[in-house]
Amino acid sequence: SDAAFTIAIDGPAAAGKGTISKAVAAHFGFRHLDTGLLYRAVGAQVLLGMEPLQAAQRLSADMLEGANLRSPEVAQSASRVAVIPEVRAALLDFQRSFARRAGGAVLDGRDIGTVICPDAEAKIFVTASADVRARRRFDELVAAGAAISFEQVLADVLERDARDRDRAEAPLKPAADAVTIDTSTLDIEEAVAAAIKAIEARRA
Ligand code: CDP
Ligand code: CDP
Repeated sequence: SDAAFTIAIDGPAAAGKGTISKAVAAHFGFRHLDTGLLYRAVGAQVLLGMEPLQAAQRLSADMLEGANLRSPEVAQSASRVAVIPEVRAALLDFQRSFARRAGGAVLDGRDIGTVICPDAEAKIFVTASADVRARRRFDELVAAGAAISFEQVLADVLERDARDRDRAEAPLKPAADAVTIDTSTLDIEEAVAAAIKAIEARRA
């Protein structure tokens, strides 16, 4: 049964984690949690003046629906609060409970396969060159009406990647048992197919 089947999808900024996770969840009929949204919601509250730990402890459903959660400013703030061990600890139970509920789950983030769900049945590390990732994020932001340059987006992506990789607590890195998918030269359909193939291999 799929009662406890958990799929962990991690990787650097704008690698395609969310896109792949949504498609994989739809394919298997599993629930999906974008854990980056939790850190973005905390980061957004901090930009409004709240203390990071208080924001993490008071996180509520309406905070996850903020319209500006996708902005580069919020992303930067998210990666700054994400280095604080107490903030990560405050968000842990919610993520683990989500993974455990019946029906199978896909979680995407930075530390799902390493810290949140180390026993996940399938782990995928999605990556792509920084240039490709920044180009994809730039196109998204421009389509959403943002006035931003490609250079700014690239700088944001590189700064967050470095902060996420270099932190002591739950750094960004592939789990030892993760399958890495480099999407630099893959379109969405090809990337999703590669992920489903890797997951099917673990289900067999
Ligand atoms: O969740 P994450 O930040 O890792 O990335 P995403 O939001 O899923 O993908 C970032 C952008 O890249 C989206 O606009 C996707 O449509 C696009 N993308 C793509 O063009 N080709 C892929 N193979 C994967 C994603
Ligand atoms: O969509 P994108 O990949 O650009 O970012 P995100 O997944 O929404 O994550 C925003 C920030 O939250 C990251 O840069 C990390 O610092 C942090 N994060 C984390 O530390 N652990 C997670 N499981 C998810 C996100």
